[in-house]
Amino acid sequence: MVRRFAVTPGLVSALLAAALVACSSGGETREGTGRDSQEIRPMERKIVGLGAPYEADRGLAGRTSELAASQKARREAAWQAVARVLRPVAIAEKLEKLDGGAAAQLPAFRTWYGKDDFTRAFDGALKAMSPEDKAARRPLRDDEVTAALTANAASRGEASDDDYAERLRLLIDAPAVDGLGANQRVTYSPGTVTHLMKNYAHTQGCLSARTDDPAPSPTSFAPCLGEEFPVDAAVVKTSWNRADFNGKLRTHDTSAETLAKRRSGELDDGGWGNGQGEASPGTSDVYTIRLSDGASFRLTGMHLMTKELREWLWITVWWSAEPNTDFGADRPESITKLGGPWSHYKMCVVTSYEEHDMDPRGGFEGSLGDALAAAHGGKGAPTWCSNPYIEKGAHNAQTNCVGCHQHAGTEQRSETILADETKFPLSGRTKLRQSFLTDYLWSVGPSPEHLSHVIEQQLQ
Ligand code: HEC
Repeated sequence: MVRRFAVTPGLVSALLAAALVACSSGGETREGTGRDSQEIRPMERKIVGLGAPYEADRGLAGRTSELAASQKARREAAWQAVARVLRPVAIAEKLEKLDGGAAAQLPAFRTWYGKDDFTRAFDGALKAMSPEDKAARRPLRDDEVTAALTANAASRGEASDDDYAERLRLLIDAPAVDGLGANQRVTYSPGTVTHLMKNYAHTQGCLSARTDDPAPSPTSFAPCLGEEFPVDAAVVKTSWNRADFNGKLRTHDTSAETLAKRRSGELDDGGWGNGQGEASPGTSDVYTIRLSDGASFRLTGMHLMTKELREWLWITVWWSAEPNTDFGADRPESITKLGGPWSHYKMCVVTSYEEHDMDPRGGFEGSLGDALAAAHGGKGAPTWCSNPYIEKGAHNAQTNCVGCHQHAGTEQRSETILADETKFPLSGRTKLRQSFLTDYLWSVGPSPEHLSHVIEQQLQ
């Protein structure tokens, strides 16, 4: 049993000093990038333990046409997926009761692997291979990947006993425990990481050659991965707002009226602009984390893609000061029962390139029906879903996730896709490709994640 110490005045001033330093160097950020971003280090990984699996709904793919034809069925399925991602899981290290008696749990996605975890685990897996196998680029087996991930979760790296005890001592309340998952932008479910590690050899050479497959097989349209991702593959991308010292959060209006103006390009050139107002929600109203240096961050938005559908299930949630209107009006009990912060996020979802729901309101009354109607382009027109906190720049409030992600692994960049209406019509929402080099995942290809480059470096 690990002993947890009380908060001493010394600790409080150390936390404040750290927060001051971090604040003066960073200031408000809408994304956890740059100096304000922290990865899950070996020490935190050991405290958290193995990433929790994404418990996929294996029956969802059989409902693909139904979801495409019904906004209502689509939204219900999406809220359920969000609940699966937020499912509370216990961390590996046993802590005594936190302040307020909270249990040491994390939402499942907060235990997932970041780029650093991937780098360490893949390095471990390669080192365990014979030189001959490595030279031949033999695919890794499931048991080898499991062993590498287990070793990664058991090691606290360079940290000393004192460092580790000190890190545990900071875990005094829920935001501190939630801070264990750090604030890196992208994290991967164990199913995603396992697949990438097993298929590492396919990523090499393929991207630079941009080998397009004119006639993809019925089971794989992802030439740079060998096989497509499995059903339990899920990836999240988050955006964070610095919360210390009453830092303010920009608020965004996603009502029918404003949405219509953004979709037509009348406002901010079809982008999300800088929002309408300001708020400073407390920890019970927005998911808040505190990092080891004392800096606090609020989760403003979260993208989620899951391979429960062949062309993925695309979901995004964003914080709202008026959480029960428009895209938050149908929030189910599976989310509200998770407690405070999670009832403050709105959600939209896309499961296909084209909208096949005849009803512009998607079967909803009130402000949600109004907002959906404002996003509806007619039957067969491209779908819509976009996040005001994550997506930036002109036209980005007019997009639909899947249309842009089909180009993952190619030489295209978001900016080009959004800007070139001739080559990528309707803000890049229409289906233009038959093969998807990296199965819709940008992280394999270009920076900032560039996992194929991590693999390449370690193979050398
Ligand atoms: C205009 C292009 C574009 C649109 C629209 C877009 N994305 Fe992305 N997305 C990217 C790029 C480029 C990256 C990789 C760079 C980065 O992390 O910012 C990315 C990264 C991601 C990631 C991390 C995994 C990966 O593929 O690298 C997820 C998850 C994600 N997006 C989900 C979504 C969802 C959900 C939506 C719709 C609500 C969406 N995206 C809309 C371009 C786009």
